[in-house]
Amino acid sequence: MVRVVSAPSPAILPAPVSVRRGAGRPVRLSGAVRIVAPRSLGSEARWLRRILEEGTGWRVEVVDPGDADGRAPTGSAVVLEVAAALRRQSRGRVAGGYRLEVRDGHVRVAGDGPAGVFYGLQTFRQLLPDATLRRASVTTGSGGRPAGAGPVVLEPLVVEDRPRFSWRGAHLDVSRHFMPKTFLLKLVDLLAFHKCNVLHLHLTDDQGWRLPVDRHPLLVEVGAWRRQSSTGHRRERRFDGVPHGGYYTKDDLRELVAFAAERHVTVVPEVDMPGHVVAALAAYPVLGNTHRRLEVGTRWGVYSQVLNLEERTLEFCADIVDELCDLFPSPFVHLGGDECPTTEWARSPKARALMATEGLASVRQLQGWFTKRVAAHVTARGRRVVGWDEILEGPVPDDAVVMSWRGVKGGVEAALAGHDVVMAPEEWLYFDWAYRDDPAEPLAIRGSTPVEKVYSFDPVPPEVPEDRRHHVLGAQCQLWTEYVPTSDRAEYQYFPRLCALAERIWSPSQGASVGDDGVAAYEAFEPRLARHLRRLAALDVNYRPLDGPTPGQSRKWR
Ligand code: ACM
Repeated sequence: MVRVVSAPSPAILPAPVSVRRGAGRPVRLSGAVRIVAPRSLGSEARWLRRILEEGTGWRVEVVDPGDADGRAPTGSAVVLEVAAALRRQSRGRVAGGYRLEVRDGHVRVAGDGPAGVFYGLQTFRQLLPDATLRRASVTTGSGGRPAGAGPVVLEPLVVEDRPRFSWRGAHLDVSRHFMPKTFLLKLVDLLAFHKCNVLHLHLTDDQGWRLPVDRHPLLVEVGAWRRQSSTGHRRERRFDGVPHGGYYTKDDLRELVAFAAERHVTVVPEVDMPGHVVAALAAYPVLGNTHRRLEVGTRWGVYSQVLNLEERTLEFCADIVDELCDLFPSPFVHLGGDECPTTEWARSPKARALMATEGLASVRQLQGWFTKRVAAHVTARGRRVVGWDEILEGPVPDDAVVMSWRGVKGGVEAALAGHDVVMAPEEWLYFDWAYRDDPAEPLAIRGSTPVEKVYSFDPVPPEVPEDRRHHVLGAQCQLWTEYVPTSDRAEYQYFPRLCALAERIWSPSQGASVGDDGVAAYEAFEPRLARHLRRLAALDVNYRPLDGPTPGQSRKWR
């Protein structure tokens, strides 16, 4: 069976800057495909070979351009290169641009660097039949033997594309519910498929500690497990009586980081402090203000117990930062900093004495004092601090990145003060919220954030003046998991909202000049999204259909 992909409307998502009909002859891909790539693109070429072989059953070989030159072109080729002209164009702009051309038997993917080539290849995948996204070829030959996908004909096409923002991310809370490593790998693949490049892992919180720290082994031995979990909505004050937990080994995390790096995704680790630390206090009560024995948190919400501000606690935090930096090459280290009550410090003679010696006027300022100390350690390790927008209430390093979650206000303020900003406002980008305020939706913390609303979000609020816009690095969605007990459910919460976000952070803003396939308005987006959902189905994503949950996803049947 020959499948012809029509041009120039292949429903690419996120929408490229421009897509147009090309010149020359179509490309016919079948049983044997060559990938021509220089050694510097070996990682991208190997990745392409793996997914093409899996999804098509074709024989795919990777050859060096030196070997390919001079040989009569036999069969079709996918040619990868870093183009100096694209690299020049990208100078001073967000990297990741590419040009994909289908012409005269070849698919040529030129990038401004390896990431650009990789994004061009993600677009190429979307030109192929959906079945090729599967893990094995579904076209069976005689006797049921896999015969590989039949020939695919691609019409001549030119795609020119580049990302709008450098931070295109998704956050995942693995504390409230532990998520298996295989899901993290799948999520990285899905982020890359949508040309996103950051996975922000929220590794620690009151209800579970997931990060192994060799110098302080009880963090996971004790802190990774809770006796039971809240069930139903937390207002109901019911508990399930079932222990829950887990943690990643250092090798699990190294594997994740390496897997992500191959897909041009940075894993940004977060250790939340000085609040949201009950799991750590359960392991080491000496870090607390009362030294009272606590159990790992079982209810959702903000706890009054926070870290004390003693020197040995700061040393403990520095140990964590050190081991975190050894595991995660990310240029960014997230120190949390959100929702830190000051009631314990107000009652603590030691904290009050510290206020006096440091000349702090209010208990609130103690958090800034703490963050400044830990941030100095992060900076000394050559990394940049990221914090939730509460960190703006105290002194932070000039290069700290502020994550604006309580609306966009903190982000605007931070940009005006000269800080880089990642937009993560709850009203648009908290994907633990329900899609709709509807009893058919699965239980969620609150509602509602439909796909249209996510698509309406622009990371640069009008209050940010032109000369400060470069401070907005991009945006990310958040998935807090109090009400997300499984990875299956996590997929439901992310998809298809993440598709909408991906387009808003990759594609040109509304009103900008976009190609004939890339009108950035929801009316134009929705049909493309509907088409894209078939790709997600082939990738085994438990997405929410546009017209509402399936019976299996709905709360009505629970
Ligand atoms: C947050 O939602 N506490 C960052």
